[in-house]
Amino acid sequence: MDSEVLEFLRSQQQSALDQLSEFLRIPSVSADSAFQPQMLKCADWLKQSMIEAGLKAQIFETPGHPIVYGERIEDPSLPTVLVYGHYDVQPPDPINLWTSAPFEPTVREGKLFARGATDDKGQLFTHLKSLEAWVRVKGRLPVNVKVLIEGEEEVGGKNLDDFLKSHRDLLKADIAVVSDTSQYGDGIPAITCGLRGIVAAEVRLKGPSKDLHSGIYGGSIANPVNALTKMCGALIGDDGRVQIPGFYDDVVDLTPLEQQQYAALPFSEKEFLREVGSSAVFGEPGYSTLQRRTARPTCDINGITGGYQGEGPKTIIPSRAVAKITCRLVPNMSPEKVLTALEAFLRTKCPPGVEFEFKSFHGCEAFVFDPTSDWLTAASRAIETAFGRQPVMVREGGSIPVVLSLKQILGLDTLLLGWGRNSDNLHSPDEHIHLVDFQKGTLASACLWYELAQLKA
Ligand code: BES
Ligand code: MN
Ligand code: MN
Repeated sequence: MDSEVLEFLRSQQQSALDQLSEFLRIPSVSADSAFQPQMLKCADWLKQSMIEAGLKAQIFETPGHPIVYGERIEDPSLPTVLVYGHYDVQPPDPINLWTSAPFEPTVREGKLFARGATDDKGQLFTHLKSLEAWVRVKGRLPVNVKVLIEGEEEVGGKNLDDFLKSHRDLLKADIAVVSDTSQYGDGIPAITCGLRGIVAAEVRLKGPSKDLHSGIYGGSIANPVNALTKMCGALIGDDGRVQIPGFYDDVVDLTPLEQQQYAALPFSEKEFLREVGSSAVFGEPGYSTLQRRTARPTCDINGITGGYQGEGPKTIIPSRAVAKITCRLVPNMSPEKVLTALEAFLRTKCPPGVEFEFKSFHGCEAFVFDPTSDWLTAASRAIETAFGRQPVMVREGGSIPVVLSLKQILGLDTLLLGWGRNSDNLHSPDEHIHLVDFQKGTLASACLWYELAQLKA
């Protein structure tokens, strides 16, 4: 690996951080239409920073939030890498739990705090900085790159898939790189070789046409909040197993080799509990905590509302109740099958007089990467150079639907090279990225272009 490029990056650390802070200051919340102008501003900012990195860049409008695309083709005989990231962020709520304001990036104790710091602005920005360094120092890149940054990842938008389908030629590449996952633990970098899939749904129950006096009417008709909590409560058994019939039918158990690999990873339950702020672990019997959160399917109620939420008591039978539910899927599970089974399970538990409405949102299958691929070896070398330690190969519990789309639509395998940590509070108050992770991630990215070029050479 070229030491000049790495030296240059080390000398630019402060300015890279300043630019990242500028990026983080733009509140690009995709879920909330009030932030629409900020999404445009953010896309524009990215386009500019791609141009500064020496890429040819443009913005593609979609029916939703724009896609930013940049490329630099050095030589058609070199490998072509498609880099994906997302500039949209989760809503910052609950805002009062942030130590500093979510869109005023602040450094404390070696971490940069802001919404999007690790998911995914801080991570994707490492690639732009490393590309820029190669272009500035060497005048060229060791590979061809195509950089695709979308604005609808956190809302599971369908527009990106349509874009992939209509730009197959433009996006032609040999391999995809995504930095939107985590290291295994403090000081232990990882390559993520598997992700869980997901289905998301919403159940709406309608009882009486209006809230009713619970003294006058209570006992005579079904209460939608009672009904909803009962059906939701039936989803998980006392032992933590999902109770939907057939839920586990297609699940492939971990092979003995995989079980060994899991067992070899360092894991401290005490540290884990500190990270999540909980006093005990809980989950499906027969599996370790690490297996439960990455290799086993789940069903979670994400939110439940209905009835009176204000101060003091109120004696009513509420007219409506709503719950949001997601299931995480492992390889070989079908999103459609799980949704159908989930709906049937809940519907049969709906009492007379209550109207049942079931709506499903985004979904995708689980993902696994071939653990014997040469791409992994190259990425592993790049990470080792930058982090001073070989990465471990792990599966992660989260979902990145685009990885499936890249495979299904463009035929691309994805290297999941995350520089963040699960403890970075993603989707949570006080999201942050460790400055060292941002810096090492940038160096690893610079090494990656070099190592990938060696594969085809
Ligand atoms: N970057 C995360 C996914 C992630 C984080 C995977 C850490 C592994 C480790 C991504 O932005 C995300 O939040 N994905 C959503 C997908 C959903 C909105 C379809 C998820 O997993 O909930
Ligand atoms: Mn992300
Ligand atoms: Mn996310």
